[in-house]
Amino acid sequence: MIIKSLELADFRNYENLNIEFDKGTNILYGDNAQGKTNILEAIYLSSTTKSHKSSKDQDIIRFGFEEGHIRTYLEKEDVEYKVDMHLRKSKSKGIAINGQKIKKAAELLGLLNVVFFSPEDLSIIKNGPSERRRFVDMELCQLDNFYLYNLNHYNKIVNQRNKLLKDLFMNPDLKDTLNIWDSQLVSFGSKIIERRQVFVSQLNEIIFDIHKKLSGEKEELIIKYEPHVTIEDYEKKLSMNQEKDIRLKQTSTGPHRDDFSFIVNDVDIRKFGSQGQQRTAALSLKLSEIELVKKIAKDTPVLLLDDVLSELDSNRQNYLLNSIGDIQTIITCTGLDEFVNNRFEINRVFNVQNGVVERK
Ligand SMILES: Nc1ncnc2c1ncn2[C@@H]1O[C@H](COP(=O)(O)OP(=O)(O)OP(=O)(O)O)[C@@H](O)[C@H]1O
Ligand SMILES: [Mg+2]
Repeated sequence: MIIKSLELADFRNYENLNIEFDKGTNILYGDNAQGKTNILEAIYLSSTTKSHKSSKDQDIIRFGFEEGHIRTYLEKEDVEYKVDMHLRKSKSKGIAINGQKIKKAAELLGLLNVVFFSPEDLSIIKNGPSERRRFVDMELCQLDNFYLYNLNHYNKIVNQRNKLLKDLFMNPDLKDTLNIWDSQLVSFGSKIIERRQVFVSQLNEIIFDIHKKLSGEKEELIIKYEPHVTIEDYEKKLSMNQEKDIRLKQTSTGPHRDDFSFIVNDVDIRKFGSQGQQRTAALSLKLSEIELVKKIAKDTPVLLLDDVLSELDSNRQNYLLNSIGDIQTIITCTGLDEFVNNRFEINRVFNVQNGVVERK
């Protein structure tokens, strides 16, 4: 899969943009706050319908405007696709593939697979569980429509159940309805637990070798799934905790509390890893993502590297750039200096200045 070109209108700081990418390595360079990341954000939206920063549509439309557009031209197995995204301030976004409107975001997922790598991703191991869950969810939603469906339902039910828990305070008669929510929660939640389990084992098959190489053969990395509750105990624990949930006015049990641990040579590096160890493991995780898409989606993803090279030492930089291989890559950076000593080939260079992109 490659992105041939991208057109933006009234998106972030772009009034109008038309940029044609090379199928190899593309560099976007420019000073801070000029609009480099905004381009990657637009691509990410075309892939997942969401912003990588979780920004709302109304915030990504150019200041002072009511609507914005993202148009992406793709090529996949010699077939061309056009993805139109119409962002509206007060309505949900409209999406069309080759001029045909789609009704659900799920219809878009899987068409354009991207792997987005930003400096914040390097903290995924040391940060809290919610970010690790987010990583797994974003990845699985891209790769598995069924997971997306289950997760959406699960999240909705948790919200509705939490609302009910608040209402129970004024209206204790409603307590019987809690059991109805609970059985639905278990039904969708169990599917999430099951899929996360499989995902972690798929990831382990890939990450072990990558991390071993990346750490100079010193480290053996294993990811462990830590479900907050097992499928077997789910129903029992949920009903056991009903009184507590009513008191706390929130749902305390379920996969929305899951975590994933990263074990290096038998040590949990979430807690005991050095900063460098944590960052290397995070890099391994990102590189595994590329392989996962290749393996599960049978597609070559587009790699988006947002200002991440300057965060890595030259060994890891080289490893990253060498392992990109033949996938299309779009790299943002502030200067071109960091590439001078690198052996890899740059196919196209753009300068970004105040919402205007110029090919160099
Ligand atoms: N909705 C919007 N409308 C207009 N401009 C916006 C909007 N949202 C953000 N911006 C502007 O976009 C610019 C930031 O763009 P971006 O994050 O792409 O910068 P960058 O080139 O990646 O910078 P850095 O090197 O610091 O990461 C800021 O100047 C910001 O004010
Ligand atoms: Mg940026």
